[in-house]
Amino acid sequence: MAAIEEVGNGARVKEQDSVSAAPAAGSIEIRHCDQVSEFQACVELQREVWGFSDAELVPVRMFVVAHKIGGQVIGAFSGQALVGFALSVPGVRAGNPYLHSHMLAVKQEYRNAGLGRQLKLAQREEAIARGFELMEWTFDPLEIKNAYLNIEKLGAIVRRYSVNQYGITSSPLQAGLPTDRCIAEWWLRSHRVCRLLESGEREPFAAEKTITVPALIYHWKSDPAKRDRARDVQLANREQFLNAFGKGLAVLGYSRDAEGTGSYLLAQAHEVFAFSAGQKHI
Ligand SMILES: CC(C)(COP(=O)(O)OP(=O)(O)OC[C@H]1O[C@@H](n2cnc3c(N)ncnc32)[C@H](O)[C@@H]1OP(=O)(O)O)[C@@H](O)C(=O)NCCC(=O)NCCS
Repeated sequence: MAAIEEVGNGARVKEQDSVSAAPAAGSIEIRHCDQVSEFQACVELQREVWGFSDAELVPVRMFVVAHKIGGQVIGAFSGQALVGFALSVPGVRAGNPYLHSHMLAVKQEYRNAGLGRQLKLAQREEAIARGFELMEWTFDPLEIKNAYLNIEKLGAIVRRYSVNQYGITSSPLQAGLPTDRCIAEWWLRSHRVCRLLESGEREPFAAEKTITVPALIYHWKSDPAKRDRARDVQLANREQFLNAFGKGLAVLGYSRDAEGTGSYLLAQAHEVFAFSAGQKHI
């Protein structure tokens, strides 16, 4: 059995299978989930956060499978209550193992206190300990907050775009729009990521292209009468992303203005983001 250690603020981290991270707000414990009851709590939180219909929920069985086959189910607990989780599954590309992080969720009242970032850092720490070089996940490019977290706080890059990846889903977060996704690549031990996590600052670069998402996007998505505007932004940005990625540009930065409008900053990457086994392109 793993020992339990007090880490300050009353938060406790399991020592042996620990994915240690400092507590966010109050006393939060971040640790692996390995009980069916904990996987059930993840499914309930998933239902609460995304509002999926039963048919679209990732079921308990899949959490069990992820846990058993070398993926990650990492939870954030306030006492006994699960308040956040990250789920990843192992994948292979051209012979190279990597982790695909399928879900990250934080309960509404615990958001914007650094917990989402801590769950990602816990994933990274555990992945590096097992020898992984890359973690990927997809995110909706219209979600300004997620883009900022992924690119500016974690150091992920984007150079691939998937059109309507899951088809139309029942989640109100998607508002009936096509499920276009940016593919975030998190090169766990890259200079870019290490520098950002150590200093809080990413490598400066001159943006060659910007792609903007207006702050009003959340309002437009949630109002059926204005949803067409959100769809127009999605379509226009889709073209720009596909075009820029086709020219070899990558998203290396993200800026937010005072009104909350977000801009993807794209340029040619100078650092080589590739598996050390030699494969240059993924
Ligand atoms: C995405 C999610 C997991 C983030 O969790 P979180 O605990 O709030 O994240 P953090 O607090 O670590 O970081 C969020 C950052 O975004 C910032 N942010 C908040 N609202 C924002 C907005 N509208 N625009 C831009 N940035 C925003 C926060 O201020 C914070 O940055 P800071 O640390 O510099 O202040 C959470 O919002 C969530 O569960 N969303 C619904 C599900 C989802 O979209 N999951 C991800 C895709 S699978």
